[in-house]
Amino acid sequence: MKGMHPLYWDREVHSEYEKMMSNFKEKFGHDASVHLMRDEVGLYHLNVMCAFIKKLKGDELNVLEIGSYTGQSTRIFSEYFKNVVSVDPFGKSNVLSDIDDFKEEEESEGDEMDVKIKFSKEQDVIRFIFKNNVVEIVDNVTHYEMTSDDFFLKYKDQKKFDFIYIDGDHRYSQQIRDYTNALKFLKSGGIVGGHDFKWESTQKVIAEMDFSKKPMFHLMDDSFLVVGEELL
Ligand SMILES: C[S@@+](CC[C@H](N)C(=O)[O-])C[C@H]1O[C@@H](n2cnc3c(N)ncnc32)[C@H](O)[C@@H]1O
Repeated sequence: MKGMHPLYWDREVHSEYEKMMSNFKEKFGHDASVHLMRDEVGLYHLNVMCAFIKKLKGDELNVLEIGSYTGQSTRIFSEYFKNVVSVDPFGKSNVLSDIDDFKEEEESEGDEMDVKIKFSKEQDVIRFIFKNNVVEIVDNVTHYEMTSDDFFLKYKDQKKFDFIYIDGDHRYSQQIRDYTNALKFLKSGGIVGGHDFKWESTQKVIAEMDFSKKPMFHLMDDSFLVVGEELL
């Protein structure tokens, strides 16, 4: 840990948040309209998920996260595990250029998607908050500001991971690539998982990857985990 800082945003960190937002205004000349993707309950469940993984595999884990957004989940992973690699283009992905397609596919998701689309345009804001939430606080996170496709292509020699969590571009076409690539970067007996289990696109991927034949856990924040058979 590089210093004292609240773990993530909640009531106690409000003043930190205000400070950060006023720094933002100074830097960019306008207010940052950033919301939280996960509420406190969601963050609680993410902690539960990490505690569960730690129980199964210990804490000396190398973790890869696809889709970090403002770094709330990244920060939690960094608190539980040894090394975290985070990959997010902060809005530069094709989610941006293909926004209509994305919107149409996920229209039924309502508010959360509106937020995602709106924020995907605010690359500077997201980078700024990620830096405040993660980079300046913990020293066991390496961030790659690029798409998952670029990461998997460029970092083929990357050490294999014990746990890979996918919460990036949720379109089926991207998710299927992410999970397929993730399995190549996963240690034998590792755990792969992601968010938004109930989404149609995610369900399609789960069916196609035959994940239901493996031990699977569905968590209350709609995350899910698929555990390598060798563990059992
Ligand atoms: C739902 S948010 C992640 C939320 C975060 N995991 C959390 O729990 O706080 C999705 C993120 O995926 C990122 N993303 C979109 N397309 C991506 C891609 N092709 N590769 C990696 N990340 C991507 C977006 O920039 C966005 O920050």
